[in-house]
Amino acid sequence: MFVIPYCAMGSLKTRVKAGYSRAWVVRRYSKIGLWPSEQRVCDAFWPSAKKILDIGCGAGRTTIPLAREGHTVTGSDISLPMVRQARSLNRFDPVEATWSVSDATDLPFASSVFDGALFSYNGIELVPGLEGKTRVLQEVWRVLRPGGHLIFTTHALEAFNRFASFRLRQLIRFGYARIFGRPIEEMEVGEVVYDPEQNLEVYYMQIVSPRTYRRLLRKLGFELDYYNSRQRIDADRNPTWFVDFDPDFKFYVARKVGSGEGDGRNE
Ligand SMILES: C[S@@+](CC[C@H](N)C(=O)[O-])C[C@H]1O[C@@H](n2cnc3c(N)ncnc32)[C@H](O)[C@@H]1O
Repeated sequence: MFVIPYCAMGSLKTRVKAGYSRAWVVRRYSKIGLWPSEQRVCDAFWPSAKKILDIGCGAGRTTIPLAREGHTVTGSDISLPMVRQARSLNRFDPVEATWSVSDATDLPFASSVFDGALFSYNGIELVPGLEGKTRVLQEVWRVLRPGGHLIFTTHALEAFNRFASFRLRQLIRFGYARIFGRPIEEMEVGEVVYDPEQNLEVYYMQIVSPRTYRRLLRKLGFELDYYNSRQRIDADRNPTWFVDFDPDFKFYVARKVGSGEGDGRNE
């Protein structure tokens, strides 16, 4: 398997792609099955067979079960080794699915062709910068039919969980570097660029607030139909729409509003 050495990687996106092309990371994602919370949310918003784009599908964890349920699913991922692994797992679980190696910021699909899109397991946080995330949401808006739903998850920024002190330290480091002109790779609040020496799964991530996602979604022509934490969905509890300290992952379900014309920008 060809993996780009970290020192030869240019952009953050290239690093993300290289990180998710390493054999042990691909193996780690080679488990098939929706989380119970994903199952509930997908059943609620896609109760009948739909045409679904599974973005950042990895090794097909969510693509294959959705196809098994009768949806017409395309799994797409920026990492070729991930898609190869998905294809090979699909051979052992022969449901019909289509696979594509593609970047979520530049989707190779026609406009208004999917009824739904999924970007699971906090994949959107791996797309560098708010500009990258905006581009993903514009692309999803473009390929969705009017009324189609995007389901995605993120980490919990405002939560008091085991990562809270880490996030605070990152924020202080970021502020200090900005004020005193010290060089750091992070360009925006919430970004973390990990040291490759640690050989962690993640090379880059950006956690932003629910407020930011809500604002972005509204600006780009989506209506946020549902927001809740994985923990509360599993416990069959209602969403909290205020500042949310639940430590678990957040689910967003955003509906494309508008005619399907244009480029996903309301302004
Ligand atoms: C945390 S993994 C989750 C994989 C899969 N959704 C799952 O739940 O098992 C995130 C995936 O997003 C993919 N990814 C990251 N940036 C991407 C981009 N710009 N376009 C498409 N896929 C991307 C990675 O290659 C990786 O497979």
